[in-house]
Amino acid sequence: MSILKISNMSISFGGLTALSDISFELNKGQIFSIIGPNGAGKTTIFNCISGNYRPNSGKISFNGINITKKKPDKVAKLGIARTFQNIELFSHMTALDNILLGRHIHMKNGVLKSMLTFTEYLAKEEIKHREVAEEIIDFLDLQSARNQFVINLPYGTRKLVELGRALAMSPEIMMLDEPSAGMNLEEREDLKIWIKDIRDDFGITIIIVEHDMNLVMNISDEIMALNFGKKIAQGKPEEIQKHPEVIKAYLGEEAVNE
Ligand SMILES: Nc1ncnc2c1ncn2[C@@H]1O[C@H](COP(=O)(O)OP(=O)(O)O)[C@@H](O)[C@H]1O
Ligand SMILES: [Mg+2]
Repeated sequence: MSILKISNMSISFGGLTALSDISFELNKGQIFSIIGPNGAGKTTIFNCISGNYRPNSGKISFNGINITKKKPDKVAKLGIARTFQNIELFSHMTALDNILLGRHIHMKNGVLKSMLTFTEYLAKEEIKHREVAEEIIDFLDLQSARNQFVINLPYGTRKLVELGRALAMSPEIMMLDEPSAGMNLEEREDLKIWIKDIRDDFGITIIIVEHDMNLVMNISDEIMALNFGKKIAQGKPEEIQKHPEVIKAYLGEEAVNE
């Protein structure tokens, strides 16, 4: 069942075509990876889906709703969460508070419908949101970082806090931009398991941009490869691994002819 459909999406910045006629479809429950050399247009795809960029042409549908022109807060509210390549957290807040912020899109909903007084309602709501945040801290093994300011945490741990905040939004789709950047081998192994668990236990569909080919090949149901804003290949990991265009994009012309 298709949850996200991108049709003929293009976007340019001045004279530079960052994405050219990109189409792909995501099935519910899939782990879908986007790979390609630096500058290929991977993050731009995320920015178009999240509403941070508006494509010059093409269409983006989420659960049958046209979200092409929706603003980032609307897209997030509809159920698409993301992390950023350069991490966008509040450095002088704790890991817990940053994760709690992910809950804000679910706060103050239905207050008027509530039979409780406003204050009681908020108190109840807050308990619920804090429970969700604590579950996420446990899930991502972030107890030791829980009360620390983000600015004092190692880069890999910050990446996890950002993942936690996206998870706290209880989205249907999660877009992860280079989640393993700055992580050591052990953290990468954990991440592999967590991403699969996020799909299996939380039922979230995942799009991931990632350079760690070991991780990509291990967790992806499907991979799309880009180069210079164009799709050069799409398929299962074993197909992408031996695809001549992909090898060429990464290793240059000579590698294919050897
Ligand atoms: N806001 C922007 N203004 C100008 N150029 C941009 C902007 N966003 C992306 N680009 C350009 O689009 C191309 C693709 O960028 P990006 O999607 O970040 O690549 P990737 O994530 O694959 O490394 C790059 O050449 C980049 O410089
Ligand atoms: Mg990028």
